[in-house]
Amino acid sequence: MGFGDFQNEIYFQGLRGVVPELPVTYADLEQRARAALPPAIWSYVAGGAGDERTQRANVTAFDRWGLIPRMFVGAKERDLSVDLFGTTLPTPLFLAPVGVIGLCGQDGHGDLATARAAARTGVPMVASTLTVDPMEDVAAEFGDTPGFFQLYTPTDRDLAASLVQRAERAGFKAIVVTLDTWITGWRPRDLSTGNFPQLRGHCLANYFTDPVFRAGLERTPEEDPMGAVLRWVQLFGNPLRWEDLSWLRSLTDLPLIVKGICHPDDARRARDGGVDGIYCSNHGGRQANGGLPALDMLPEVVAAADGLPVLFDSGIRSGADIVKALALGASAVGIGRPYAYGLALGGADGIVHVLRSLLAETDLIMAVDGYPERKDLTRECLRSVHL
Ligand SMILES: Cc1cc2nc3c(=O)[nH]c(=O)nc-3n(C[C@H](O)[C@H](O)[C@H](O)COP(=O)(O)O)c2cc1C
Repeated sequence: MGFGDFQNEIYFQGLRGVVPELPVTYADLEQRARAALPPAIWSYVAGGAGDERTQRANVTAFDRWGLIPRMFVGAKERDLSVDLFGTTLPTPLFLAPVGVIGLCGQDGHGDLATARAAARTGVPMVASTLTVDPMEDVAAEFGDTPGFFQLYTPTDRDLAASLVQRAERAGFKAIVVTLDTWITGWRPRDLSTGNFPQLRGHCLANYFTDPVFRAGLERTPEEDPMGAVLRWVQLFGNPLRWEDLSWLRSLTDLPLIVKGICHPDDARRARDGGVDGIYCSNHGGRQANGGLPALDMLPEVVAAADGLPVLFDSGIRSGADIVKALALGASAVGIGRPYAYGLALGGADGIVHVLRSLLAETDLIMAVDGYPERKDLTRECLRSVHL
């Protein structure tokens, strides 16, 4: 069964008068998730930095590229698999780290639901440092699908080392260090409601269960939750410099990936510093407004990475977007908000539905356009669209 066969499943159900319970377009998904989520969570997830111009540009950047169909290819069988860090993944898709994903689940355990969706689909989850459930519990749900741990590097190096060691012990297969969020960007939606979930004690389980974090507290998080939150505020964001990269590298033998790279010089320097992968992203436009769409920087970052895998996210909303990002050189493609909305509407089933829909569209475009394998998707498949 190919990924595109999902459409047959839907059409055959339609013969019995059954239509999909969950939306098959991003616009509908977003609209229905808005109604399903508490307003504060909705605006935290949907919002971005400033007037959200960069966030919107991330999405519209894809409109400027068009795929050229090729005929007489006979692309009857497609292979969406990609090789990444020594393993073969069945698809090029992954679940980007979303810090409040725990709260997007109706039962308040959205991290576990996401991990279960990863287990069911083979689509890896990059688990944020900011989870409702501790990373060990999240990793226990991965099944045979590899999981990656995303590190927000704390100012205390011992705490950073402890988090990474726990991730190794829990069976995570790579460490993704996010560089663009040592400080929170200016987010008007959250500012106007005075809402910052972590300050309310949400999604801090990895800290509150950590022996190094706990050792630095006078009273336990159970006895004094606000005291623990204030300690977290002191420790959260480390404004890393290039000098720190060798220390980060020394923390683990797992593949090390740096997230938030958009400049080719930064990609080159990270490569020289010994990372195993570059993650081109502008955090979905949540951090700095006034920026270029991440997609616009992808080809230069890929060239500078010089053969290192380049993960990409920011603005992926459809299978067409996935195909275009791959053609522009991404080794794997991440989604953030789309799966948060799927989770809000249908738990793990909702995420599986979103992933299957995206993969079905990807597969069917590769079929129709005559690009049956990852290696067929190159810059040559694209032309710029004159809007
Ligand atoms: C609500 C929310 C929380 C996020 N939390 C994190 C996080 O904890 N760590 C991180 O590296 N990125 C985080 N991101 C950024 C995502 O990993 C990803 O870069 C972004 O969502 C991709 O853009 P998209 O939402 O347009 O797909 C978050 C994104 C959202 C929407």
